[in-house]
Amino acid sequence: MATDGEREIKLLKSNSGIKRRLVVNYLTVILVVMFLLEIFFVFFLYNFYYSNVEQTLSNRISVTANFFSKYFPADISYFEGPKKYIEEYQGKDEFLLQLINMQGKVILSTNGFGDNRTINTPDILGALDGKNTKAIYHDPKTNEKLIAVSSPIKVDKTIFGIMRLSTSLTDVDAMIQNRIWISLIVEGLIAGLFVLVSIFFSKTIINPLNEINVIAKKMSKGQLNARIEKKYNDEIGELSDTLNYMASEMFKVQQLKSDFISSISHELRTPLTSIRGWSETILTGDLENKEETKQGLQVIIKEANRLTQMVEELLDFSRLEGGRMVLHLTPLNIIEELNEILSVFHYKALKEKVEIEFTHPKEVSDIIGDKNRLKQVFINILDNALKFSPPQTAILVEIQEIRNRIIVNIIDKGLGIASEDLPKIKEKFYKGKSQKQGSGIGLGIVDEIVKLHGGEFNIYSEFEKGTKVQIQLPINQ
Ligand SMILES: Nc1ncnc2c1ncn2[C@@H]1O[C@H](COP(=O)(O)OP(=O)(O)O)[C@@H](O)[C@H]1O
Ligand SMILES: [Mg+2]
Repeated sequence: MATDGEREIKLLKSNSGIKRRLVVNYLTVILVVMFLLEIFFVFFLYNFYYSNVEQTLSNRISVTANFFSKYFPADISYFEGPKKYIEEYQGKDEFLLQLINMQGKVILSTNGFGDNRTINTPDILGALDGKNTKAIYHDPKTNEKLIAVSSPIKVDKTIFGIMRLSTSLTDVDAMIQNRIWISLIVEGLIAGLFVLVSIFFSKTIINPLNEINVIAKKMSKGQLNARIEKKYNDEIGELSDTLNYMASEMFKVQQLKSDFISSISHELRTPLTSIRGWSETILTGDLENKEETKQGLQVIIKEANRLTQMVEELLDFSRLEGGRMVLHLTPLNIIEELNEILSVFHYKALKEKVEIEFTHPKEVSDIIGDKNRLKQVFINILDNALKFSPPQTAILVEIQEIRNRIIVNIIDKGLGIASEDLPKIKEKFYKGKSQKQGSGIGLGIVDEIVKLHGGEFNIYSEFEKGTKVQIQLPINQ
């Protein structure tokens, strides 16, 4: 078992866990997205700048190659025209222009006369094939990165030589790298911002949770009147509501428990007092006085019965609470059932000088129900009606069949129930203003049994005028 202290530490840990989870999750997503974007960006940069350079080279070299084609097919090595052109080529500082023969030898070049070097970079091969071709390569001597575009010198589809223009990529690469650095810095800033935002965001979850935690701990220590202030209209607000509700339900349970104990002990005391009183009277009294002994024993039996009945009620109650009440369902004719119950009840009513009237249609449809449980329902209601009816009044029991329901009304002209008690009267152990015997559990049991039958139980009453109890049960279809 964890002690309170340990538990507290665990809670704190799990709170900072939320922060870490949020930050790590956000950061991972951001970094992955940025990584992909960066790859794309780098690719784009190189492509953009390199193809710009290539385009420039290609345009220039095409013009030059076209110009040169005028001097062919004469022997190019003795031509003054090309030599002059190359010597005076505009852009000499930036570009290297070369005239190359079909064997790949450099004949004329802006960096001096043909050095008889043989060039075999891929662009030469492409140009020999008749197309403008580019190549990016490292100069083996200087290890510099270069780009070259070669263009064939053509006269009537015959290739006489190659013009080649090349330049260094060092400056372009430096510029591209510069851009990449800038983009990395911007991405770093964005990631940092996201970390800050997610920390702030996690605080908006953790702080209210901590507040809730503090109150929930108070509740768990028994301060059931502590309430969490609902500040947010989201899942956290809902959690506050749920905890508040839980506390109020726990409070109710506590209340119920103490009501139960006080009500039950009170109800048990009365019959027990009377049983003890009569037992003592009989024991100390004149056992020969048969009349008195008999009367005493009768009271003892009556009170013992009452105790048994109360214990039965309590057992039913606990079965209902635990959801352990099982119904034994059979088709029942409600007129027959009530006739049976009333035949027993008539005597009781007669003693109290209360009349019972029973009205019903000739025939009603069967319902599906548990015979004994429904009997218990009607006995409880009739018991109440009789208990709260003054002498010389009548109790009306009527049955109606309306659509697919059987309705039983039990109407008395007794004490009635005060309107402030009415809403709570179905609750267990609630007796309202009643000073009469009873545990206050009867209507609670009635309610549960009727619900188990898929029916409805309503009670209407006017104080000092009378009460109407209505049971609706679905008919067997
Ligand atoms: N027919 C009735 N007339 C007046 N009050 C009634 C009637 N039925 C029930 N009540 C009120 O409802 C309370 C709860 O009834 P019930 O659950 O049967 O408990 P109990 O009969 O043990 O008091 C009674 O204590 C009484 O105040
Ligand atoms: Mg009762």
